[in-house]
Amino acid sequence: MTLPEIENQAEVEIVSAQTRPELDVLQVKYLGRNGVINQFLKGLSIDELKNQGGPVNSVKNKIRAIFLSKYAHLNSQETQKKIDVTTPGKLPPIGHLHLLTEAIKEIEDIFTRLGFVRRRYPEVETDWYYAEGLNIPKDHPARDDQETFYLNQNVVLTAHTSNGQLHEMELMKKPPIRMINIGKTYRRQASNTHNPMFHQFEGLLIDKNINITHLIGVSNYFAGQYFGPDRKTRLRPHHFQFTEPSFEVDINCHICNGRGEIDCKKFQVCKAGLLELGGAGMVHPNVLKNGGLDPQKYTGFAFGWGVERVIMMKHQVTNNLRELYTDDLRFLNQS
Ligand code: PHE
Repeated sequence: MTLPEIENQAEVEIVSAQTRPELDVLQVKYLGRNGVINQFLKGLSIDELKNQGGPVNSVKNKIRAIFLSKYAHLNSQETQKKIDVTTPGKLPPIGHLHLLTEAIKEIEDIFTRLGFVRRRYPEVETDWYYAEGLNIPKDHPARDDQETFYLNQNVVLTAHTSNGQLHEMELMKKPPIRMINIGKTYRRQASNTHNPMFHQFEGLLIDKNINITHLIGVSNYFAGQYFGPDRKTRLRPHHFQFTEPSFEVDINCHICNGRGEIDCKKFQVCKAGLLELGGAGMVHPNVLKNGGLDPQKYTGFAFGWGVERVIMMKHQVTNNLRELYTDDLRFLNQS
């Protein structure tokens, strides 16, 4: 090959190279120790070398310059690729609040729309607020139902949120009272539908001329808002020491629509087409008195329902309440 031929061929190959590794190979091919240029020099006689030395060097420099500009070109192409602002970004996984936290917030919102005020009252409670002041005397069999954790003879981990009733009457001093107390409660129990620690929401409404129809209205409003339209509540007679009369509140099951089909049983919350929400009733006159209110002047209703229970009733995602306390994302992501 003549010198101009070498120059031409090098230029064509360098310009058409697509990547830096390809260029590296070409650099060795032309400018390396055994490269085309050095081979060309080796093929010259001493005389030829005298004349050709200058031209060979200038071809070598030209080829070097072509390499440099091609490297620069490839480099800038790569940088452009790196900052391609049109490439869609990678989204980090987005979490959400825990099912329980979401439910508590939702329950709070529903009742605050009716003018109830959100409260939190002690979980570690004295016997007066937890039982005695709620018309449950010492040694009364009603105490057995609650499987209470006693810290000492006078102090318990509260087994229901009804302790908030007396606190609220003391705080407000006089009606109207509209409280929604949502908090942790504790009972010595463990099964698929029971956990030693669980949450209740306690409503208390006291004013002049409050009667059972108000309790029904508020229960139906909650059922419609939380579970969806067409959900109705039903009162079933029951007994609590701190309400008279007392009820269990049930709502119709939306899966079997109250028909009580076998399929619903797998979630263990539907019983003959009804789901049990929890206790309620008209505040007992003794409790009003203990809270410093005149039962001749004021009446009211109260209810205490389970947060975990309504989550299970609404989402029907599990028949094991304790799954709510695991950190298994396959379960928690279902909301
Ligand atoms: N405290 C009762 C329970 O935990 C529920 C209840 C609350 C009943 C208010 C009547 C009125 O079972």
